[in-house]
Amino acid sequence: MAKILVTGGAGFVGSHIVDAFLAAGHEVVVVDDLFTGRRENVNPDCEFHEMDIRDPRLEALFQYHKFELVSHQAALGNVRASMEDPMRYADVNVRGGVNVLECCRKYDVRKIVYSSTGGCVYGEPRYLPADEAHPLQPRDPYGASKASYELYLPVYQMNYELSYTILRYPNVYGPRQDPFGEAGVVSIFIGQMLRNLQPIINGDGEQLRDYVHVSDVVCANLMVVNKGDNGVFNVGWGKGTSVNQVFHSLRAILGSSAREVHGPPKLGEIRQTYLNSAKAAEVLGWRPTVSLQAGLQSTAEYFRCTLAKQIAPQVA
Ligand SMILES: NC(=O)c1ccc[n+]([C@@H]2O[C@H](COP(=O)([O-])OP(=O)(O)OC[C@H]3O[C@@H](n4cnc5c(N)ncnc54)[C@H](O)[C@@H]3O)[C@@H](O)[C@H]2O)c1
Repeated sequence: MAKILVTGGAGFVGSHIVDAFLAAGHEVVVVDDLFTGRRENVNPDCEFHEMDIRDPRLEALFQYHKFELVSHQAALGNVRASMEDPMRYADVNVRGGVNVLECCRKYDVRKIVYSSTGGCVYGEPRYLPADEAHPLQPRDPYGASKASYELYLPVYQMNYELSYTILRYPNVYGPRQDPFGEAGVVSIFIGQMLRNLQPIINGDGEQLRDYVHVSDVVCANLMVVNKGDNGVFNVGWGKGTSVNQVFHSLRAILGSSAREVHGPPKLGEIRQTYLNSAKAAEVLGWRPTVSLQAGLQSTAEYFRCTLAKQIAPQVA
């Protein structure tokens, strides 16, 4: 069993990865500055440090714990916010990430696993579904910061023998995703429908996305603890679903009377993106298992229970 650092382990995806690592018998330490993460997401069986990944004190944690593996989830992840503050995105997602790499190098970490974004690094894909060989052509500073950081990983592997795996996710959804945030259309629509607020679909709603349930993403993260060294893997379904389809599925699941209302399209938004994950299937044996319908149903049920406590008077 390994001693693992999970950066961003109080966030949506990171907290599920922490739970799975602990369940598999690993020892887990979490670093998260709680910028978007929540303390209540952090599994009580891990050691938690409220700390910025850019903090020079990160090194002391590496020195003390001698981690075997680092699961690097911490990042700023809002496309639109990145357009407004690209410097901040570069600072956290690139400079903060390099601080993590420097600690890995100094304290002989065996491997780093990085959560990248298949939804952004390929920009508006030239062909679909986009595979890992597709050129990196992000259209926004968030995607550019995630793609930039990917380039550092082979550099550390070649010079310092730090192994890595890059997992490129499409749109991840599931329990603990912030229903009050600006990213994550599934949780946002569910949160609005449960509060009887009118969701607004950006543009014509025919944008196609690849929606993967967080439990499938967690499986990929478990698999690459001992597999997939120095490889890049997409982890998606390979098919696109429109925002309109997601809206109508959730409407039916929740018995919502929300109307299909469209707002102006978001500037620079990618029209269609979905990922070819044949390489993950072949090399890792990874395949998605939670169908969108089943995943939307269980996610809606989760939020019905958790949000009901916070917004009881508004829940039907
Ligand atoms: N959710 C998705 O659809 C998706 C898709 C592709 C890639 N990803 C990647 O997966 C990872 C996790 O994303 P998520 O959806 O769980 O987002 P999230 O915002 O829930 O999690 C990110 C975590 O990082 C923490 N964090 C942010 N800045 C930090 C800093 N400077 N120091 C320490 N901690 C910091 C936040 O507090 C949060 O807990 C990110 O790297 C993201 O780029 C997510």
